[in-house]
Amino acid sequence: MRIKKAEFIKSALKPEHYPQEVIPEVAFSGRSNVGKSSMFNQLVGQKSLARVSRQPGRTQTINFFLVNNSFHMVDLPGYGFAKVPLKVKAQWGKMMETYLGKRQQLRGVVLLLDIRHKPTGDDRQMLDWLIDNKLPVIVVATKSDKISKGRRQHHLAVIKKELALSPEQQIVQFSSQTGEGKELLLSGVEALINE
Ligand code: GTP
Ligand code: MG
Repeated sequence: MRIKKAEFIKSALKPEHYPQEVIPEVAFSGRSNVGKSSMFNQLVGQKSLARVSRQPGRTQTINFFLVNNSFHMVDLPGYGFAKVPLKVKAQWGKMMETYLGKRQQLRGVVLLLDIRHKPTGDDRQMLDWLIDNKLPVIVVATKSDKISKGRRQHHLAVIKKELALSPEQQIVQFSSQTGEGKELLLSGVEALINE
């Protein structure tokens, strides 16, 4: 799939504010700062469609983008960011659970993990929740440019072990900086949309 057009539609906190249009949707989820917004920009080939920041907690709303006039890609706020006050964290958690649990047209979720780090309890919880809720998941290891090719398999094995994934489970290696993994991820997204 090639992305020919991507445009920001709207930000939402509550279901009343989600776009009304019933077209397939794929959401991007992961810890704060893992690179969701950057991945977005790389996939659509626009430098600053989604806001990127060094500071975790940049994306604070559910952001809907219309792609190729045919489906939505949804940039979600990150989870697991320690510096967010507990009350805000609870609100974000609820906001995401509502979206992921109730959005009828949601076809699947791209779950991002930092290839450098061991997944955390939050990652595990998110993955288990998605599986329990029967949402198809594409697992992606981001920031692959930060790890040499020779060390990659080791890092992927750690991720699989921590998340209790089977050794055969595919993990897309992705870099927003080099564009590595873009084709593979886009074909995964396309498969979800066309299911
Ligand atoms: P929140 O919105 O806070 O949840 O963060 P996010 O997951 O959207 O992360 P964002 O895309 O804002 O990126 C966070 C930081 O990581 C920025 O400084 C990015 O430049 C950097 N970054 C993202 N992806 C990559 C990547 O593939 N490689 C490298 N080297 N840096 C990356
Ligand atoms: Mg973001």
